Amino acid sequence: MNPDHPGPTSRFAPFLALFFLAASAQAGDAAKAVGLAANLCASCHGEDGNSLVPAFPKLAGQQAVYLLRELKDYKSGKRSSEVMVPIVSSLNEEDLANLAAFYASQKATPGTVGDAGLLPLGKALYLKGNAKSGIPACDGCHEEGGGGDGKFPRVAGQNVDYALDQFRLYASGKRGNGTKVMQTIAERMTPEETKAVAEYMASLP
Ligand code: HEC
Ligand code: HEC
Repeated sequence: MNPDHPGPTSRFAPFLALFFLAASAQAGDAAKAVGLAANLCASCHGEDGNSLVPAFPKLAGQQAVYLLRELKDYKSGKRSSEVMVPIVSSLNEEDLANLAAFYASQKATPGTVGDAGLLPLGKALYLKGNAKSGIPACDGCHEEGGGGDGKFPRVAGQNVDYALDQFRLYASGKRGNGTKVMQTIAERMTPEETKAVAEYMASLP
């Protein structure tokens, strides 16, 4: 190759290398988080991220991109939580990326439905929204099966009590890093719709 006219690959090689380095740091290494997860997180979120207490979110099978964003937001204080903020304060970004990769790679167990009678209403709201009160369908972002995608969190099998807590925080503007769309949805849902959609999400495998 003529050294005066390096081909596109060699010209961009340093940038490509940097890009891949950044991408791999962002992706995290699940194996490196096993010890941290067992020591710092398992008591509340379960060994494999299937939290046993209904008020604690399940992390198993959650989107890694979403998990990492939330962990960073607890660390910066953008998302507040008396419980989570002190726990992540001593962890660095690499730890957080590794933990996100670890929980994303775990298998979620089925959720627990408390009131099956609410499932039809919850399903209708999830798949169609409520045109009268201006609530968009949830599946456009969280996917039909509730698995989420990237920054859109998995909601399938999530604990009902945790979901209800989050809707309260969104509605009162207290989920500091929450998007406008989630705040608007939480404000507009009736108490019955809120409960129903939380039960429906928990019922998704
Ligand atoms: C003492 C119990 C407790 C411990 C220990 C704990 N958590 Fe949490 N975690 C919670 C609670 C409660 C929430 C919900 C807080 C909120 O409303 O923002 C939460 C929320 C989260 C969320 C947000 C989930 C979502 O769906 O948005 C992530 C991610 C998380 N924890 C990861 C971790 C990791 C990683 C560790 C260990 C380094 C850990 N937690 C340790 C109780 C705990
Ligand atoms: C336009 C996209 C969009 C739509 C539509 C949408 N969501 Fe969300 N949702 C998000 C995003 C992004 C987040 C995470 C960021 C945040 O907190 O706002 C989120 C977060 C959530 C969370 C919190 C998850 C957790 O683990 O803490 C729940 C629960 C939720 N959405 C339920 C719903 C329901 C129910 C509907 C339909 C009535 C819905 N969403 C419609 C984008 C959307």
